[in-house]
This record gives sequence, C-alpha cells and structure tokens, in this order.
Amino acid sequence: MRTSFSNPKVQFLRYEIREVVDVVQKLKEIDPEFKVIGENIGDPIVKGWRVPAFVKQLITEEIQRDGDAVFGYSHSRGNPGIRKWVAELSRRLFPSSTLDYEYVLFTNGLGAAISALYNMVPHGSRIIQPAPTYPSHASMESFESGAEPIMYRLDPFRNWEPDIDDLESQIKSNPQIAGITMINPNNPTGAVYGRPVLEQMIRLAEKYQLMILSDEIYFRMVYNGHKFVSMVEVAGNRVPLIVLRGLSKDVPWPGGRCGWVEFHNVNLDSGYRSYCEAVKKRILLEVCSVHLPQAIVPRLYDHPEFAVWNRSYNAELEKIANTIAERLESIEALMVNRANGAFYMMPLFREGVLNDRQTLQIGNPGIRKFVEQEVAGPGVALDKRFAYYLLASTGICVVPATGFYSSYPGFRITTLERDEKIRNHTYLRLTEAIREYLHSA
Ligand SMILES: Cc1ncc(COP(=O)(O)O)c(C=O)c1O
Repeated sequence: MRTSFSNPKVQFLRYEIREVVDVVQKLKEIDPEFKVIGENIGDPIVKGWRVPAFVKQLITEEIQRDGDAVFGYSHSRGNPGIRKWVAELSRRLFPSSTLDYEYVLFTNGLGAAISALYNMVPHGSRIIQPAPTYPSHASMESFESGAEPIMYRLDPFRNWEPDIDDLESQIKSNPQIAGITMINPNNPTGAVYGRPVLEQMIRLAEKYQLMILSDEIYFRMVYNGHKFVSMVEVAGNRVPLIVLRGLSKDVPWPGGRCGWVEFHNVNLDSGYRSYCEAVKKRILLEVCSVHLPQAIVPRLYDHPEFAVWNRSYNAELEKIANTIAERLESIEALMVNRANGAFYMMPLFREGVLNDRQTLQIGNPGIRKFVEQEVAGPGVALDKRFAYYLLASTGICVVPATGFYSSYPGFRITTLERDEKIRNHTYLRLTEAIREYLHSA
C-alpha cells in the first residue's frame, strides 16, 4: 500500500490574512452582488496608490534595452553588481555596516526569504517570535519545527514594545532558542521601536549568544515624529544579524516580488557563518528571483524623485493613520495604539467586552447561515467571530488579531485607503458596526 500524502505539519501553516479571502469568495458565490472593502491585505495598489511615473519609466527603459537581458535568468543570488550596490547602500545608511555583497541574497519577495531562512535552521533549534507577528514568520518557523511557535510578548499597554522580561524568561526556559525575530517598523501593530529597545534586545542576544533576525521591510515608512533606527546601527559587530528589506513596500509594487536578505557580521561566529552558507545554498534551488525589479533597484532608489515621493507617501500615510485612529478612539471598548510606521493598526477589544452570543444583522439568509456555521465550531476565537459577522454584515474585511498570534482579541486594519469618501464611509460603518455588535448581547 502507498504511504500517506497527508502532512501532519500542515496544522502549523497559518495565514489568516489570505485565508479570509476564501471566505469572501464563498460569500460572493452565495450572493454575486456581495461587495467587499478589503482591509486585510497591505497592498497599496488596491487602495488607490499608483506606481510613480519615474518607476514606470525605469521599467520601460529596462524592458526596451537591447539584448533583452531582464527576460533571462539572473544570477541565483541576484546579479553581483546589484548586490554590490545593496552592500554599498548599507554602508551609506549605516556607516558602521561591514556588509559584504557575497552575503546579500535577492529573493522572490521576502515571503520566499522567510521560507528559506526558517527552512535552513538546524532541526531542534528554534527562533523565538514576537506575539503578535506577521504570520509568515511564526507560521514558517513553527511549520519547520513541527511545533507551536515559541513567542515573546509585545506589550499593548506600552505602545506594543517588546516585553524584555518575557523575552528573557522564554529564552531561559527554552535552551533550544538560537535566534530572535523582530519586525521594525511593525506589522501588524504599526509600532516603531527606538534605540533603547533595540539595545536591550542586542544585550540579550549577546548574553545568550543568539542571532537576531530583523525584518525591516517598512524601514522607510515612519511618521508622527518618529525616527527609524536600524538594528545594523545599534548592533555594530556585536551579534550575528540578518536584516530583511525589499521593494514590495518601498514603492507600490508588491506584485514585483523583489526582496533581499543581508547577512551581517558573518565572521563573528562559525556556526552562524555555516548557517548563512546553508541559506545561500538553499537559495540556488529557487533558480533566481524575478529579474526585472531586481535590475532597476539601484536606479530606483538613487533616483532624485524617490526621496521626494517617499516623503509625500509618509506624509499621506501619517494623515490617513491619524484620521482612522481618531475615529476608532471614539469607541470606549477599544484600545487603540496609533500607527507610527508601516501601514497597519491593531485596535484591541478591552477585556470582557466580547462574548459568543454577539451578532450583527445579515440581510442575505444564505450568507447568515454560512457565517453562523463558520463561527459555531468549538475554539473559534471571539475576535474571529466578530470579524466574520462584520464581513457578512458590512462587507468590511478585517483580520482578527488572533490571526497574528495575538493573545489579546482585536483586529488589524490597513491604513492605506487613499479615497477620503471611501475611507470615511468604511470607518463610520466600522465604528457603527462595532457598537451594534457589542450591544447585541
Ligand atoms: C513584516 C513583513 N515582512 C515580510 C513581508 C513579505 O513581503 P513580500 O511582499 O516582499 O513577500 C510582509 C508583507 O506584508 C511583511 O509585512
């Protein structure tokens, strides 16, 4: 008899941001007129942002270049000239950086980098994850380990800063921990961490000889008077450090699938160095990352219009995030930490305000029945129940906070909607629906 195809580790793969897309699909099958306002995926394009003209110009020039090079494969780790530019950029931004271009890897978006990085962690070693987190990190780490993720708490009562005591106590009680993941600026919370937080994390990494994996994909998106501080600057050459960056969020081109990994301080520790070499080898099996976006990376970032565009993007993101926060702050039952970076916010429901009898009116009987069935099962989180009722009743699609491994119930929204009319409508409707839901039982 043939052996089984079913992989028991699948239970550890979770990505609620897009799992809810299947639910939307079902609702549309029941009612083809069902209209959705997607607040689940951080894609600026669907929220009215356009690719700047200078980026389109660079793409056009590259496509029309004689020889059609970008239609062929690139070097598996990314073209050496482009990787040299990344290493040089690192030194330009952070003068203490000693990044060597041989330790820069281009990947098909950071999604592919995240998979490869956790894939090559030796069996039995664990990388501790923040809670809440961007689910790809915790989910891939947990899938590779075949066990629930080991997590440290981000504290919503202190602007979502890492709870350093909790982090240290987790490290002490889990000697298999070999590294710490952090995301700054943060998805899903919109928090931006200052130098003291980074310093505390580095001290722990030094004390317990751990590597740090710093996802800085949103590093150019910081506002409300905050300033971005990179792990590269604070860590110097004290700890093994992996930094993730990419194009997906720097310009509205997440479909370009272009990200890169920077392995800093490779000579600090032979174990870490052999891990870096293993990831480099693993990346060869991906063949190469999408050639076109990679090829224009240096010219895009060095273009005089990039800085101008980035400033206006941040100014508008700040305005949108603050308008949304003001609306949500009007609800007593919510605890709102304003976003200071990236383009997300995760309001939490105050303790005890949710229960499993609350509902919202749903006009279409087929949709009502579907949602009632979906939330009836055992173990459905209270914030997931809220998110499903909200979706079915208003079309607004948020992701429950528990989908980001949060131990506090809430929901994550994007702060990207550019159209003021749509934005006002969405958040007026959302606040009304929250009030109705909370008063329904
Ligand atoms: C923190 C973080 N890291 C990585 C990614 C993945 O980005 P990419 O589009 O490059 O795969 C995202 C996407 O939302 C993210 O929020």
